[in-house]
Amino acid sequence: MDEKINQLKDLINESNNIVFFGGAGVSTESGIPDFRSKDGLYNQKYKYPPELILSHTFFMAKTKDFYDFYRDKMNSLKYEPNTTHIKLAEMEKEGKLKAVVTQNIDGLHQKAGSKNVFELHGSVLRNYCMKCKKFYDAEYIFNSNDIPKCECGGIVKPDVVLYEEGLNEDTIEGAISAIENADMLIIGGTSLTVYPASGLINYYKGNKLVLINRDETNYDKRANLVINDSLGKVFSEL
Ligand code: APR
Repeated sequence: MDEKINQLKDLINESNNIVFFGGAGVSTESGIPDFRSKDGLYNQKYKYPPELILSHTFFMAKTKDFYDFYRDKMNSLKYEPNTTHIKLAEMEKEGKLKAVVTQNIDGLHQKAGSKNVFELHGSVLRNYCMKCKKFYDAEYIFNSNDIPKCECGGIVKPDVVLYEEGLNEDTIEGAISAIENADMLIIGGTSLTVYPASGLINYYKGNKLVLINRDETNYDKRANLVINDSLGKVFSEL
């Protein structure tokens, strides 16, 4: 492991246009379960399969059940950034890291101080009325009961990408541009099983592709350096 940490340090030292591409494994050490690990959200017993609940069809057909699950399982307001979030924000401040591209919706990268964050799947911090588009904050949603309504009577929907929904075009473009221009791409805490998010890493053209993940992924063989360990442990040694 030490040898790999030293290799990672060398790669970071010789790079000044680093992009980090992350997933739910970045936030597990803050206390937020990921999705597909054995104790992940999708392996928990619930009234309906969680992957079905987090779909557009379910949101429209069973909105109250959606919000019961969402308030119970997706409330990230009570969690704090961990070592990885904090170190990435520091690397951005030092001018080493140019962007974070995340699949997470918990807002913890910004809470740690990161400025240039592309949230491919949106954020729980942004919620809009489906009728008049009025903005509502996360507290409004997580403190609501039943279905959160707008003062105009419309239903308020979180600005998160549910299954069957498209990703924001501007966010995708920004993420692709950052990845295309990166001299180093560090991928961490993601199973790389969900598209189109995972497909974005194919835009990386350099030869400093690092994968830090507890479990193996289908992209391990394409990486220049693979560290199968916890992100907190690795980032605390940088
Ligand atoms: N350190 C390193 N790796 C970790 C850690 C950790 N502390 N905790 C978990 N992991 C790894 C797991 O081994 C797993 O491979 O992070 C990965 C998380 O994978 P998933 O649970 O599939 O999460 P993610 O890849 O972000 O899912 C992508 O799926 O349902 C959708 O929209 C949802 O954004 C999500 C997308």
